[in-house]
Amino acid sequence: MRIWAIANQKGGVGKTTTTLSLGRGLAARGHKVLLIDLDPHSSLTRAFGVPVEPVPEGVQELFAAPPHEIAALARHSDIPGLDYLCAQASLATLERRSANQPGLGLALQQALARHGEQHDYILLDCAPTLGLLMINALAAADRLIIPTQAEPLALHGLDGMVRTGEMVERSRKRALPISVLPTLFDRRTRAGNETLKLMQERHGERVWEDAIPIDTRICNPAALTVPLLGDDYPGRGMAAYRHALEWLLLSEAAQLERAA
Ligand SMILES: Nc1ncnc2c1ncn2[C@@H]1O[C@H](COP(=O)(O)OP(=O)(O)OP(=O)(O)O)[C@@H](O)[C@H]1O
Ligand SMILES: [Mg+2]
Repeated sequence: MRIWAIANQKGGVGKTTTTLSLGRGLAARGHKVLLIDLDPHSSLTRAFGVPVEPVPEGVQELFAAPPHEIAALARHSDIPGLDYLCAQASLATLERRSANQPGLGLALQQALARHGEQHDYILLDCAPTLGLLMINALAAADRLIIPTQAEPLALHGLDGMVRTGEMVERSRKRALPISVLPTLFDRRTRAGNETLKLMQERHGERVWEDAIPIDTRICNPAALTVPLLGDDYPGRGMAAYRHALEWLLLSEAAQLERAA
């Protein structure tokens, strides 16, 4: 089982779109995939068509005493091999409600350890907030994927997220490789191209040499959700995600080989 956290403290950079696209891509390759929605806004949960009322069972129950098991909470999607775990709005107050419950930073890691090898890949869709849920994700993850909008102001968010990842790596004493995926790239603009160059200069090999372009087929404002597109969906956006997944899998294989 490999656990990928998809995180950035900046909002609206394509985290949920990336989680869904990579998840579909992995499932299309025959892997058993579980996507976990760690955002109280529940974008990923909604993308699977789950209403937020009545409140679905999901991540909140991993923090219950005693915690529920992931296998009992996860749902199958219509896509073969792709399962998901819902978020709930109540997760927004989890930190406040659990102030005097120590050890909750490891609740997700422990739940995933109990889950064992039932899925090949677990993708964690984080909220743009550095709080208890993101700490849980980073503690559990084998790698950190940072989608970053290719525009100048996003660079601060990227630097901050990289620092957070490195801090977690030091404190847990286990490698947390970082990969940066430039997103929402408009190659016609100077700002987009220059930001991409700056990202590569600052973060070197961690940055994918290509970028996910802006593709109007990826956004679906009318549906009020991030659309769940097929891995074979036509268009530049999904094609770029397929290439990004190939790069991620190749770099992961190289990291695992180095670590062996
Ligand atoms: N490559 C793209 N081209 C066009 N629109 C995109 C692209 N990627 C994401 N979007 C759209 O941009 C918006 C933000 O994307 P998304 O919800 O994936 O970001 P996020 O980082 O998860 O946001 P949040 O921080 O709120 O969780 C959505 O409407 C999504 O459909
Ligand atoms: Mg999101």
